[in-house]
Amino acid sequence: MRKFFRYALIFLAVALVGLQFVPLKRDNPTSDPAQDFITATQAPAEVTTLLKTACYDCHSHKTVYPWYAKVAPASLLIVNHVQEGRHHLNFSTWTTYPAGKAAHKLEECAEEVEEGHMPIGNYTWLHSEAKLSEAQRKLLADWFSAEYKKAKGG
Ligand code: HEC
Repeated sequence: MRKFFRYALIFLAVALVGLQFVPLKRDNPTSDPAQDFITATQAPAEVTTLLKTACYDCHSHKTVYPWYAKVAPASLLIVNHVQEGRHHLNFSTWTTYPAGKAAHKLEECAEEVEEGHMPIGNYTWLHSEAKLSEAQRKLLADWFSAEYKKAKGG
């Protein structure tokens, strides 16, 4: 039995080392700054700060990768969040969205923020600055709602 545990431990150690060599896409593609959401909506300063600290790491090409983004298994989770996040909603290519899609995304943003689904919980655990207070949550959700109404043509 002791032998089994020793081999299991060695196996795990080797697997963990091997995992470090899995190639991951830790990129920040270049995009036209004119396509950026904050620029396009001329978001007020407080909203800009909240978007940059609470959303842009996963929903833009301005991801700030922390040092542990280089260490597996954390890196796998982070890279997946960023790729998935951009796929669903990319603030760096915002103006390329057709009007209907943009309006729908704004509605989703208001909902996700209001309900506390975004930013993702395990992100705010390590990025306490992205944890929204009640007031910040309301400010951001209300602003998204107002932008949604504008985009809808109301
Ligand atoms: C840690 C990474 C991360 C952060 C930070 C983050 N998101 Fe997300 N977001 C995701 C991922 C991953 C998905 C896709 C999977 C899902 O819906 O859970 C997503 C999905 C969404 C969606 C759904 C889009 C769609 O139409 O499918 C919206 C809206 C959204 N996020 C808004 C926000 C807003 C607004 C913020 C900032 C307040 C934010 N997110 C912060 C990772 C993140």
